[in-house]
Amino acid sequence: MRGSMAGSPDMAAPRPGPPLWLLAELTYRCPLHCVFCSNPVDYARHDAELDTGQWLDVLAQARAMGAVQLGLSGGEPLLRDDLEVIVEHAHRLGFYVNLITSGIGLTEARAKALKQAGLDHVQLSFQDSTRELNDFLSCTRTFELKSRVASIIKAQGFPMVLNCVMHRHNLPHVGRIIEMAEAMDAQYLELANTQYYGWAWVNREALMPTAHELIQAEEEVNRHRARLDGRMKILWVSPDVVEARPKACMNGWGAVFMLVAPDGVALPCHSARMLPGLDAPSVRDFSLREIWHDSRAFNAYRGDAWMSDTCRSCDDKGHDFGGCRCQAYLFTGSAAATDPACRKSPHRGAVDAMLERAPQARAASEQPLRFVPNAARQAGLVYRG
Ligand code: FES
Repeated sequence: MRGSMAGSPDMAAPRPGPPLWLLAELTYRCPLHCVFCSNPVDYARHDAELDTGQWLDVLAQARAMGAVQLGLSGGEPLLRDDLEVIVEHAHRLGFYVNLITSGIGLTEARAKALKQAGLDHVQLSFQDSTRELNDFLSCTRTFELKSRVASIIKAQGFPMVLNCVMHRHNLPHVGRIIEMAEAMDAQYLELANTQYYGWAWVNREALMPTAHELIQAEEEVNRHRARLDGRMKILWVSPDVVEARPKACMNGWGAVFMLVAPDGVALPCHSARMLPGLDAPSVRDFSLREIWHDSRAFNAYRGDAWMSDTCRSCDDKGHDFGGCRCQAYLFTGSAAATDPACRKSPHRGAVDAMLERAPQARAASEQPLRFVPNAARQAGLVYRG
């Protein structure tokens, strides 16, 4: 049995509503090997995936609890042969179903089958607007293929979000990324500045932009927003470490979001798996209802009893819910510490030191990127941007 039900809820905290947003990470397997991959750094250790029947049961339980939004992600969810079965089941249950994909494996026939199964929406990732950098960062030759997949998605009439993770290497291309999304007729473009967890944390020194680069990029985004006049929505996700304001991570721990990992471990956020002592429960051992309401993992950072005095007495705690527990852990070694993105944190100096190192680490050769392991695919891909 994995995880514990010995939860100790903050008795003053209101009982949480349902997990409105369920993210089903169907597999950690992926044809890409991105330098900022959100898979756990040790993902290869967790390779026992839930089978089709177990996923269908998870979806039915979540829907019975009131979940309405379903994200199917990974890794690459298209690597699951049963994706169409899972989509059809989710659609019948009444979920709004979003496929979050690199696009690799989305043929015309498969897109048609997913449409028939009831898929509502597709989020397609790009790494850059140039083949050279896209392929280098993903460690695969996939740029042209992704471009073809974008037209397949549009041909099936799916609403399409293009997503691009931003960092020092592609921020200077932000205008061209917007023009690429426009040419592909995307409804939305999400320019998500790198969140430093998992592989992005491993590669943080090589990915971190300077504050000046971020300001310049945001100004360019605003110029394009004015030009596009609402024809394509552009979401610019600012890095909280630069803004010195903690983000309302997951809209609060265990408030609206639940993630089920490929092996069935249920988590309150994408990165919580790494937190020591979290004792995350598995859907193989407990019902989703037990996990959501009674598990130690989901109750750990609800309410404010866990907060430092700095956070508990802060006027912003109702907006940022204490910030991000995973960021606090990575910078300070304690998941309960004040989020070091916050200027009130006694650990803010560690964030500032990382930002100050960014200008010195400009040359890629000074800070080589570490790829998600797969040396064979890495061979021959060099970026000299
Ligand atoms: Fe885990 Fe923010 S990513 S709490």
